Amino acid sequence: MDLQLTGKTAVVTGGSKGIGLALVRTLLAEGMRVVTGSRTITAELKETGAVPVTVDLSTAEGPARLIDSAIDELGGIDLLVNNVGVGDTDDFAKGSGSTCWSCRMTPGSTPSTCTSTARCGSAAPRFPA
Ligand SMILES: NC(=O)c1ccc[n+]([C@@H]2O[C@H](COP(=O)([O-])OP(=O)(O)OC[C@H]3O[C@@H](n4cnc5c(N)ncnc54)[C@H](OP(=O)(O)O)[C@@H]3O)[C@@H](O)[C@H]2O)c1
Repeated sequence: MDLQLTGKTAVVTGGSKGIGLALVRTLLAEGMRVVTGSRTITAELKETGAVPVTVDLSTAEGPARLIDSAIDELGGIDLLVNNVGVGDTDDFAKGSGSTCWSCRMTPGSTPSTCTSTARCGSAAPRFPA
């Protein structure tokens, strides 16, 4: 099926593995030009032909740096796939309760300084064992 995406541009967050890597491959196969940001650049990602940007998207400046790099590379962005989410699936699976929305989203915040007692793993485990 021709999705008429040939020549269009895309940014995918978290394209180094998993769902993001599958998305990168799919969009490239549709003829899109793709920039993707993640903290590491895997061999699998390198093989795709996407333009990788090393970036930590949990930092205050990370998202803007990725978008600036994508605009420099692509000239504009037709599609954004925001695949990286907050929450650690390993913690979820283990039920360790160390994951906190507020800590993850607030630059500089850690469980010991987090003020979100309703949500922070240090004060009230979100996923108790
Ligand atoms: N798999 C599922 O069944 C499922 C179900 C529901 C929702 N989800 C959600 O879908 C998303 C992708 O899932 P997945 O299974 O593909 O996860 P995954 O295999 O762990 O891949 C996560 C991707 O995000 C990147 N990433 C993580 N933290 C980052 C950060 N701070 N800055 C930049 N990149 C970051 C990782 O690259 P680096 O580590 O190199 O940074 C990797 O490329 C997640 O948000 C997950 O919670 C997944």
